[in-house]
Amino acid sequence: MIGVHARRADIDRAVRRLRRGGLVAFPTETVYGLGALARDARAVAGVFHAKGRPRGNPLIVHVADAAMARAVASAWPASAAALAERFWPGPLTIVLPKARDIPDEVTAGGRTVAVRCPDHPVALALLEALGEPLVGPSANRSGGVSPTRPEHVRAAFPASEVLVLDGGRCERGIESTVVDLTQTPLRVLRPGFIGPAEIAGVAGAEVEVGSASAGPARSPGLLPVHYAPGTPARLIDPKDLEATLAALPEGSAAVVLGPADLHIPQPHMHRTMPEGAEAYAACMYEALRESDNRRAALVVVVRPWGPGEPEGLWAAIADRLGRATAPR
Ligand code: TXA
Ligand code: MG
Repeated sequence: MIGVHARRADIDRAVRRLRRGGLVAFPTETVYGLGALARDARAVAGVFHAKGRPRGNPLIVHVADAAMARAVASAWPASAAALAERFWPGPLTIVLPKARDIPDEVTAGGRTVAVRCPDHPVALALLEALGEPLVGPSANRSGGVSPTRPEHVRAAFPASEVLVLDGGRCERGIESTVVDLTQTPLRVLRPGFIGPAEIAGVAGAEVEVGSASAGPARSPGLLPVHYAPGTPARLIDPKDLEATLAALPEGSAAVVLGPADLHIPQPHMHRTMPEGAEAYAACMYEALRESDNRRAALVVVVRPWGPGEPEGLWAAIADRLGRATAPR
């Protein structure tokens, strides 16, 4: 079933565009992806070019199902089978040894490939119609905020360059969990909706969190500055709000992302954020994007999780907010 947005004719047009080596942005449950045929090295190079993405940052390959995933990888361990069975389609990306026919452009010259099966009817209809895997980095220019609506993608790329399949608003709002199955213990390289304990339980293996400290970046999306709005942004403790606003130069305004019960004095602006983690994740990127458009001097994000280490989905939100507000 294709949703209310993209129709059969749109999918067919997208398939033709992709088979010619073109780029098609597609909706997923997390964020929009910028698609190109994963086995077409030139098309993949086009994705890097369009995004302005550093060559060293590998792409996630999107598949219709586990069978397509197995063809992308040169090994399919029991952990992969168990995780795919339990979490696909869904916001989990697994890293496996790559198959020979996956071009080096996709994996940034590395021997591993990241694979996921997105939980969105339009993405699945596209992948099934193609019968081929697609690379799909978030459909933003490199370093920018990930897109959660088709208009975010249209604002970033000219229509002549990127065809956008409309799937409405992305339900989840932040990118998939990335877990590397090629190391022991397994390692979560990017936190997301599916947490390390859940992964460990299903894979029947130990799971560590965080990129390995030594050597070249294992997951360059984990570099500190990422997902960032253009306006300077800061993540603050709720108790520091008054002092933060008071320290701004006379007449300059901040946009404050925080709960409904804050008192925000003029000329500052208040963007109300929901209290639950799922609702927060779903609108976080959009809120950062809108704040960026308000021409404020500063975007102030009031820490949404309680004191102490963020847990569960809050850990993924904290990761993204930390990057969006990292000093530049
Ligand atoms: O939810 C998502 O994963 C979205 C949607 C569109 O599917 N895609 C996405 O792609 O977030 P991107 O390119 O923005 O982020 C991919 C992340 C980066 O941190 C990248 O470094 C990492 O996955 N990655 C890709 N291939 C890898 C590999 N072989 N080994 C380790 N990390 C890898
Ligand atoms: Mg991205």
